[in-house]
Amino acid sequence: MRKHIVAGNWKMNNGLIQTETLISELKQQTKTSDAEVMIAPTFTNLWHAFESTRQDDIEVIAQNMHFAENGAYTGEISAGMLKSIGIKTVILGHSERRAYFNETDDSLAKKVDTALANTMRVIFCFGEELSDRKAGNEEAVVERQIKNALFHLEASAFKHIVLAYEPVWAIGTGETASPEQAQDMHAFIRKTLNSKYGETVADDMTILYGGSVKPNNAKEIFSKPDVDGGLIGGAALNAEDFYAIVNAF
Ligand code: 13P
Repeated sequence: MRKHIVAGNWKMNNGLIQTETLISELKQQTKTSDAEVMIAPTFTNLWHAFESTRQDDIEVIAQNMHFAENGAYTGEISAGMLKSIGIKTVILGHSERRAYFNETDDSLAKKVDTALANTMRVIFCFGEELSDRKAGNEEAVVERQIKNALFHLEASAFKHIVLAYEPVWAIGTGETASPEQAQDMHAFIRKTLNSKYGETVADDMTILYGGSVKPNNAKEIFSKPDVDGGLIGGAALNAEDFYAIVNAF
């Protein structure tokens, strides 16, 4: 089923004390929308964040994981480790992981498989670079990213996947895609899913937009029919701003 989701990707920000502070500020906010609220603190604070939001309407999710179940992968975290502390959702394929940590469509396909095999929900990110958009290639790039990492899956797997379109040129730049640009791409994504998996999978898919979503532009972006929520970076580090976005539905 299609849902409204607003997820905060904290990236590599906030130590333990700041995590505690931000979570207690988030708890003081009031949710007036039907959006599911998620936060993705860094690995070291996941357990603490999970424990301190047990009674709250906030899901704590992970920013990444490895594709292997376990083994000699120094510095990495497995799906089983995340599950062992109660984490049920993982962000995969963020453009920063692709750009700085050499994540490829192939390695992401493996990560998606491992997450699903561990009954985790995946927020799968993709999006074009500025040069792709300038060349008019944004749809081709997005189509390739989705097909390469996801189109080996059975239709039933898509119940456990949320898509997040994040144009790289809009991340952390203050320059957001216009609501029309977001809508056009989200409609294209649905069409791409429809071509392989049919209308039910396409219509039921929750598709988030990410890239400089702020309290002052969230309402307009979320008003578009194919935009089901947001993956929020900078604005997720401030409780009031984050809930202004959550409540923009
Ligand atoms: P900003 O909201 O800071 O542009 O970041 C978006 C993002 O990368 C969320 O994953």
